[in-house]
Amino acid sequence: MLNPLSIVILAAGKGSRMKSPKAKVLHEICGREMLYYSIKAALEITDDVIVVVAHQRDAVIAAMEKYFNNLTFVTQDAENFPGTGGAMMGIKPKYDDVLVLNGDMPLIERTSIEKFLANPADIVMSVISLENPSGYGRVVIENDRVQRIVEEKDASASEKAIHTVNAGVYAFKHHVLQTYIPRLSNANAQGEYYLTDVIEMARRDGLEISPLFVEEVEFKGVNSKNDLTNAEMIMMDRLRRTWMDAGVIMQLPETIYLEEGVTFEGECLIENGVRLCGNTQIINSHIKAHSVIEDSIVKNSDVGPLAHLRPLSVLEDTHVGNFVEVKKSTLKGVKAGHLSYLGDATIDSGTNIGAGTITCNYDGVKKYQTIIGKNVFVGSDSQLVAPVEICDNVMIAAGTTVTAGKYESDLLILSRTPIRKVAGFFSKFFGKGKEC
Ligand code: UD1
Ligand code: CA
Repeated sequence: MLNPLSIVILAAGKGSRMKSPKAKVLHEICGREMLYYSIKAALEITDDVIVVVAHQRDAVIAAMEKYFNNLTFVTQDAENFPGTGGAMMGIKPKYDDVLVLNGDMPLIERTSIEKFLANPADIVMSVISLENPSGYGRVVIENDRVQRIVEEKDASASEKAIHTVNAGVYAFKHHVLQTYIPRLSNANAQGEYYLTDVIEMARRDGLEISPLFVEEVEFKGVNSKNDLTNAEMIMMDRLRRTWMDAGVIMQLPETIYLEEGVTFEGECLIENGVRLCGNTQIINSHIKAHSVIEDSIVKNSDVGPLAHLRPLSVLEDTHVGNFVEVKKSTLKGVKAGHLSYLGDATIDSGTNIGAGTITCNYDGVKKYQTIIGKNVFVGSDSQLVAPVEICDNVMIAAGTTVTAGKYESDLLILSRTPIRKVAGFFSKFFGKGKEC
């Protein structure tokens, strides 16, 4: 049994290298802010997760409170005490073992964190050996012992040549932090208080510092938009593999975009190029090539190719074909095979939506509902001007504009501009010589 521990996640920095008005830790990976992932892994291990915030503090707290309600937020005095050492100044961990994680390491998993805890040294620090160490603090190791960490901006040419870098995860005893954090200085190239300086001070006092060599794939920091994309590819690959293990069939999986909140149940087939976003649920369904589904539920249905389900759509026992857009609508037992827009609609079983049907749900100011009952046949190229209700067993003729109102059962609804025939027009217009 491991000792209980506190986990501190540093999320107060600006992340200037992202070149973005948005705080670095709020950049998304597979549909969720990168900070979400390290917090999720931390909460699998402990009930004491402390998140240090400062830059865009309120936005970071609000974003995390969407997912978690048991975090402690500490605000860093980043103006007077900038840097990862400054971030550690106000923390009050519940337990004596304290693990520190950078908030820009979304790929870290529970099993990797646990490796730090099995080690009884005063400080256990993560180390990776990188082909290209640029951007990282270099770990100076002499006679197999960690001497110090030198930040890239403070490193000499020979130190920059070191390929062993600090991955940014450390396990400390609380008393070690209490001793050394107050002694940090900001006399360095960035004028910041570096948490990494604790290592050299502790080593001089004879404390035991144990380097733990870790895998690059889980410990890579996200500092730039290139890093963000690379991390997302790794995360998405994990998500796809997890769902395929759970029984989902994916064709050309590397072309399928999948977000963290998406779930599958039963027998699901996802074709190439599909994009599934938000809290989408796919249950016993077939999603055909190049369809996009956002925050929707699809049960016992088939969708696409090239269909678009926008947020809050619910499909059950339904067929939605190519070039059909559905938004905030519930379709149960419906066929909508081609080229339609169905927005703010409720459509019941046995109903067929002809090609080119459009719900006119918006008058430029407000949105209105379309309700269609059972066994309604909506002819091709019809417009339904909402608010409109069509009761069961109605036929709407092709090309009809159904104006707002309620239409009772058993009707034929038809509106057509009468045909006009002008004899001899073609040859007069194009001339006689034209042959068929
Ligand atoms: C840090 C380490 C470096 C290591 C690298 C690993 C220091 C001084 N350097 O550098 O040795 O190789 O991580 O990824 O620790 N943060 C705060 N408050 C601040 C500044 C940063 O909370 O005042 C947070 C950031 O939000 C981020 C984390 O600390 O989540 C790391 O900050 P970052 O600026 O990315 O540090 P690196 O330069 O990458
Ligand atoms: Ca970093």
